[in-house]
Amino acid sequence: MTRKRVMINTEKCIGCGMCGNVCVAHNLEIRNKKAATIMDSCILCGQCSAVCPQKAILMIDCGDGQVEKTEENRLNPNDVLNTIRFRRSIRNFKETEISKDIIEQILEAGRLTHTAKNMQDVSFIVLDKEKKRIETMAVKVFRTVKPIVDLFSPLARNNKINDSFFFFNAPIVIVIMAKDKTNGILAAQNMEYVAEANGLGVLYSGFFTMAANASRKIKKAISIPKGKKAAMTLVLGYPNVNFLRSTPHKKLNVRYM
Ligand SMILES: Cc1cc2nc3c(=O)[nH]c(=O)nc-3n(C[C@H](O)[C@H](O)[C@H](O)COP(=O)(O)O)c2cc1C
Repeated sequence: MTRKRVMINTEKCIGCGMCGNVCVAHNLEIRNKKAATIMDSCILCGQCSAVCPQKAILMIDCGDGQVEKTEENRLNPNDVLNTIRFRRSIRNFKETEISKDIIEQILEAGRLTHTAKNMQDVSFIVLDKEKKRIETMAVKVFRTVKPIVDLFSPLARNNKINDSFFFFNAPIVIVIMAKDKTNGILAAQNMEYVAEANGLGVLYSGFFTMAANASRKIKKAISIPKGKKAAMTLVLGYPNVNFLRSTPHKKLNVRYM
């Protein structure tokens, strides 16, 4: 059985020390003019392997092959800012299906997103055929608790829970699960960017995420693994609404010290 580890090919290594310079665990040193690991374990982030000019460091049993960077991929900052400025939560979708290629690209964005301590603890459920059945379960959960919530929240009182309350008849829903919620949310944000770059609209369904974590039945129906929780739910489809301008935001609240 293989064991996850960093392996140094001493024939290729030229002892430049670049691997040690990027190692967050301080787990690499130069010994006899060659890189060597100090301990047997680290977070296996792979930075040593990504920086090595000689391709002398292999990440054993850590996942798929590494891709060579052939060009700088720097985005135009104004384009990025305008993407953020003009993105809107979409609650009205066309019936148009989303191609498998695009769904896979969105999932790839989630898979590649960085995680705390390189946990790589994020996984995904794509709700397609089972979407309506799962939504119906969540609607039931919310209808049960609504009378209580209504007592405290005027906003909830105005909100009717119809049969498409969570997913707005969108063609695809992705539930993002993680041990660490922050890791899941980061994946969600990157997935949203890739979805938007493909012309899709996205809604973060905090409500469905809440229902999924609260209901044992939903958890079981979508098989949330033990130790994980739903971190966020993305509702995806081609928008059936065209927003003509950005929305107001509070003034920047910042302090420099
Ligand atoms: C973490 C999070 C959870 C959200 N959950 C829901 C939700 O369950 N249902 C919904 O209709 N909108 C949800 N939204 C959308 C917000 O209401 C929306 O982002 C906000 O009103 C601003 O509108 P905009 O996204 O168009 O700028 C959520 C947004 C975030 C960031």
